[in-house]
Amino acid sequence: MITLRNISKNYEGVQAVDDISLKIHPNTVHGIMGRSGAGKSTLVRLMSLLECPDNGEVFFNDCRVDNLKGKALRERRRQLGMVFQNFNLFLSRNVFSNVAYPLEIAGVDKRSIQNRVYELLDLVELSSKIEYPINRLSGGQKQRIAIARALAHHPKILFCDEATSALDPQTTLTILQLIKDIQNRMNLTVVMITHQMEVVKEICAFVSIIDNGKVIKNESVQNLFSFPHTGTAHELISPLRYSDVILKKQRLHLVGNTTEDILSRLAKIYHTNVNIVTGSIRSVNNKSVSNFIIELTISEGTLNTIIADLRSQKISIEVLHA
Ligand SMILES: Nc1ncnc2c1ncn2[C@@H]1O[C@H](COP(=O)(O)OP(=O)(O)O)[C@@H](O)[C@H]1O
Ligand SMILES: [Mg+2]
Repeated sequence: MITLRNISKNYEGVQAVDDISLKIHPNTVHGIMGRSGAGKSTLVRLMSLLECPDNGEVFFNDCRVDNLKGKALRERRRQLGMVFQNFNLFLSRNVFSNVAYPLEIAGVDKRSIQNRVYELLDLVELSSKIEYPINRLSGGQKQRIAIARALAHHPKILFCDEATSALDPQTTLTILQLIKDIQNRMNLTVVMITHQMEVVKEICAFVSIIDNGKVIKNESVQNLFSFPHTGTAHELISPLRYSDVILKKQRLHLVGNTTEDILSRLAKIYHTNVNIVTGSIRSVNNKSVSNFIIELTISEGTLNTIIADLRSQKISIEVLHA
């Protein structure tokens, strides 16, 4: 549990964080959403002990942490992972030594570093790139490496500040999926700072909306989409409909060159089971034409994305109503 009690931070007259009190439950993904300049990054720097608040207190469980100094502070910080929009990787180091870096500075022995780096690269599915220089990786791969590095010391809390804001929508989904997976597997508390409602909708259980350094909404994502809002909350939320977060069983009829690869990619990217209800493959003019009926449990928003995705691969789709 992270508890913030009346914390404030002022920069030369700018009240970046203004008397915020907030609880973040363990083992969840909690979104901090707001426009640019709202105070999100400042808030995360206070929570992650990179800066001290002018007023107020920060607790991890029942332990006050905002006033720690020296060794105690360094040890606390080690239990926190951070991931940023621009990855913050060392361009002069390769993949291995970027992930190894936090372990090296903590004085971990060589053999243990090597084992841990292999484990971490396996987790983010980039073991094959271990010797690569950073500038040969795509944006999504760089973010995977940054996530691996952030997890080096088995943190309890992972802070992601606009971690997907520099990525295209497809890559964003795969990174969110990875974060969700890791959260589940490691019982992590994840704090996702974002200006994108799609991110909140995709993986957060709770969300706090920040505006002008204050919390203006703090609730479950389900509630956020269930009730009408006013002011800033309305502006941020209204472009999306509630149906975008409700998962429903959908039955699709696919005709074209649907391969197993395509179906397993769907399952992976869109974080869903793909059940094949019926399937057959025929050869027409030496081309194989498949005919599949599949079932997926997805939101309406994801359904539309999948339809566009498959149509772009020349597969015709009909949504069947069960
Ligand atoms: N180190 C700093 N020095 C001066 N002003 C700052 C500093 N950090 C943030 N601010 C100001 O505080 C406000 C909130 O910034 P920030 O927390 O970065 O917002 P967000 O992450 O929501 O975009 C902005 O007006 C910003 O200019
Ligand atoms: Mg920011």
